[in-house]
Amino acid sequence: MTAVPSLAATVNQRVADALSAALPEAGAADPLLRRSDRADFQANGLLALAKKLKGNPRELASQVVGQLAAGDVIKEIEVSGPGFLNITVSDEAIVRTLAARAADDRLGVPYAENPGTTVIDYAQPNVAKEMHVGHLRSAVIGAAMVEILEFTGEKVVRRHHIGDWGTQFGMLIQYLIEHPHELDHKSDDASAEDSGEEAMSNLNRLYKASRALFDSDEEFKERARRRVVDLQAGDEQTLALWQRFVDESKVYFYSVFNKLDMDIRDADVVGESGYNAMLEETCRLLEESGVAVRSDGALCVFFDDVKGPDGNPTPLIVKKSNGGYGYAATDLSAVRDRVQGLGASTLLYVVDARQSLHFKMVFETARRAGWLGEDVAAVQLAFGTVLGKDGKPFKTREGETVRLVDLLDEAVDRATAVVREKGENIGLTEQEITENGFQVGIGAVKYADLSTSASRDYKFDLDQMVSLNGDTSVYIQYAYARVRSIFRRAGDAAPKAHPELELAPAERALGLHLDQFGEVLAEAAAGYEPHKLAAYLYQLASLYTTFYDQCPVLKAEGGSEQVENRLFLCELTARTLHRGMALLGIRTPERL
Ligand code: ARG
Repeated sequence: MTAVPSLAATVNQRVADALSAALPEAGAADPLLRRSDRADFQANGLLALAKKLKGNPRELASQVVGQLAAGDVIKEIEVSGPGFLNITVSDEAIVRTLAARAADDRLGVPYAENPGTTVIDYAQPNVAKEMHVGHLRSAVIGAAMVEILEFTGEKVVRRHHIGDWGTQFGMLIQYLIEHPHELDHKSDDASAEDSGEEAMSNLNRLYKASRALFDSDEEFKERARRRVVDLQAGDEQTLALWQRFVDESKVYFYSVFNKLDMDIRDADVVGESGYNAMLEETCRLLEESGVAVRSDGALCVFFDDVKGPDGNPTPLIVKKSNGGYGYAATDLSAVRDRVQGLGASTLLYVVDARQSLHFKMVFETARRAGWLGEDVAAVQLAFGTVLGKDGKPFKTREGETVRLVDLLDEAVDRATAVVREKGENIGLTEQEITENGFQVGIGAVKYADLSTSASRDYKFDLDQMVSLNGDTSVYIQYAYARVRSIFRRAGDAAPKAHPELELAPAERALGLHLDQFGEVLAEAAAGYEPHKLAAYLYQLASLYTTFYDQCPVLKAEGGSEQVENRLFLCELTARTLHRGMALLGIRTPERL
């Protein structure tokens, strides 16, 4: 692989060099180069610098221009406004840079300079419970971050911290002992999807029935309580039944992840129960070091700035007064395991913003205990709530949480209708319509989630999500399919870069945007912001659409060289779209 510096980076460096030549006393000042509509780039950094040096910004700008000989890269440079520099690069430099990208299978994107190990906690549904839209967000955003970080060279360890432990299992297990056939499957040769559905409906039925008994029958309640004690004591028969609930739930989870076109591996599923053996020690260490103290019988950690509405401090409860361990003990043990065992330099948690206080307290506790050193970052990639069209948290008309599978099925149905309508004109087979409908529908759901900044709430609006116009994945997928269709019609014409040709404005705009792929990825990785990649891809698709409208490709007026050069731009666009969408977990069908 050969990393290709972007034109923005090259120009920025040249202006910086000119700046230090003109003004050695300025040191290493950043010219702050940005894309601009007036020229290709604008450098804004001279204003602040002149102010600092108490000089005239326009004069400083002309001195810098004097140092910059126009050459192969910079075609024009002029001082504008109060002291900006407007910079235009040559067409030749654009095509040469893009050709270098095309020659590399990473599109010239460099690896990060100091990669570390990120343990990412995402896609963490709860055993014996239906998955809802909140679990969708964690899975989709987490999977995109895994891909983006791995692409930059980071070592990534995935952890699916599923909710597989707690007192509710006493009730479930006791019920199963008394009704042993409730988790049986009717058929062994069902598809993964059907088995998943059946598993969940068994679990649901069992959950409801055991709950009803628990609430109405005092003797059952008592038996269920004793069962919790057996479970915690590690009684073999009880554990074996608990395992059946976990396994049954996994059949269901995997069927949903499969529907989401997502690759979740069993070895990465380390649920809450995976830290059972550490809980006691975690509490002992906290108590011995004085980080946690006893309060009303519970083991607690206090924070000066965390108070309840009554003004009293709200502690993080590590061990309850009845001796039970909660969510915090598990998370603190997981921190120890991930840092000490897995060698994490970053802990990333893709979890609902409503759990932010919990993570703030867990991180702070782990710092005080010395489990999170200064060299380890702990970050919650907190996401907002999925809202219904009415702007309220997404619920069914009856006020229940919406089943994730139902939403996905509906998205695929709608997308299939859209694909069918267009597909009939281009002769898609029934099988292609089904496949593309799936890829478009699931892509639409993922893209809607990834295209707004994660911390914001967003409305789940299927009409908007599968629309061909606007900021949707379908729009981007169409741009990709359009390029592919050009290639099917290209006959003998093949893509080839021709740096000697003059570029049309739409070609330059497309080319300069293609050149920024690596920078956008670095930003999306550094700030955990997949929406920046989504925005980049949408803009790339829009610029391609403009190019397609304004610049005939196979019938280019400038003859066969121009045909080749335009095909070259098309091909690099397709590769960039394909790669970028794959990082977001979204497929790009060949024909739409
Ligand atoms: N299972 C939890 C839920 O459904 C999310 C787990 C988040 N991860 C963690 N390490 N606490 O809300």
